[in-house]
Amino acid sequence: MDGIEELRAKYLAEAGAASGADALEGVRLAALGKKGEISLKMRELGKMTSEERQIAGPALNGLKSEIDAALKARKLALDDAALDERLKAEWLDITLPGRPRPQGGIHPVSQVTEECSAIFADMGFRVAEGPQIETDWYNFDALNLAPEHPARQEHDTFFMRRAPGDDRPPHVLRTHTSPVQIRAMQDQGAPIRVIAPGRVYRMDMDLTHTPMFHQIEGMAIDRDISMANLKWVLEEFFSAYFGTQVRTRFRASHFPFTEPSAEVDIQCSWVDGQLRVGEGDGWMEVLGSGMMHPKVLAAGGIDPDQWQGFAFGMGIDRMAMLKYGIPDLRAFFESDLRWLRHYGFGALSAPTVHAG
Ligand code: PHE
Repeated sequence: MDGIEELRAKYLAEAGAASGADALEGVRLAALGKKGEISLKMRELGKMTSEERQIAGPALNGLKSEIDAALKARKLALDDAALDERLKAEWLDITLPGRPRPQGGIHPVSQVTEECSAIFADMGFRVAEGPQIETDWYNFDALNLAPEHPARQEHDTFFMRRAPGDDRPPHVLRTHTSPVQIRAMQDQGAPIRVIAPGRVYRMDMDLTHTPMFHQIEGMAIDRDISMANLKWVLEEFFSAYFGTQVRTRFRASHFPFTEPSAEVDIQCSWVDGQLRVGEGDGWMEVLGSGMMHPKVLAAGGIDPDQWQGFAFGMGIDRMAMLKYGIPDLRAFFESDLRWLRHYGFGALSAPTVHAG
């Protein structure tokens, strides 16, 4: 058969010179593809005499495998070359020392939030949440603070800007965690036992106030909840939190969302300027509380003739200062690494509060 030698020379040369996978495929198609030159030659076999075919057939088949082998060999060579290139470029000096990783710590607010949540969880309180940007309905109206109520001013509220002409009621940065009472009642109904730790905001800045601080709200609603339950829960909580029996003193007070209302003091003493909680005959105010106002229950969709509940709100930052002897509130939020290292907690130091 004519031309076999030429085809061999041509395709072996092309295979050997192919510079990549695409070129190789091109050569394969040109030679061995459906319309490749070798394939077309194969078709001519049918028109030959059997003598001619006996010579041309094996010759073509041999050429086919030869080209096939040449393509495979070229592919291997190209792969090897590519691997060599990569190995030259990608190398790692395993004798280099590791990069130092700065060690973080747990902020006292996070630590104390965890501790409080663990103690209340033991008493059957689940954690509830609400947004920090609240509607003024949740932050005030639903909590029985009518629009003209003076407490709205007392709270030194941050109002969100409204475009001129937009007279929808304003959103506010929540001034307390109490709006979560309403949200939790709406979400879960009664009976319910929740705490709600989180950030709150008031336009206030001096030695003992920061515009953002943290509160933890507590709420329990059932058929026959009383102030006695409130007092037990709080004494149980403070004793577990401070790791010593702590007595509480309730003083009559006023909040629009509770009736009756009480401010709660914990027992303490000062020895050489050092505060000691749970001993002596001093008292320190730590939270506001009371029996939930019927209007507040109703705002949360709960029938005040069927259910009653207590609620309380307490400063988390304050709790941290009392337990860990931290003097200045403002330092909590200054992100001073020296302060954070001194008062922070190791990432693995779990809250140790279950003993009480
Ligand atoms: N929301 C009140 C405050 O921020 C605290 C409080 C909560 C009082 C629940 C009574 C009941 O001061």
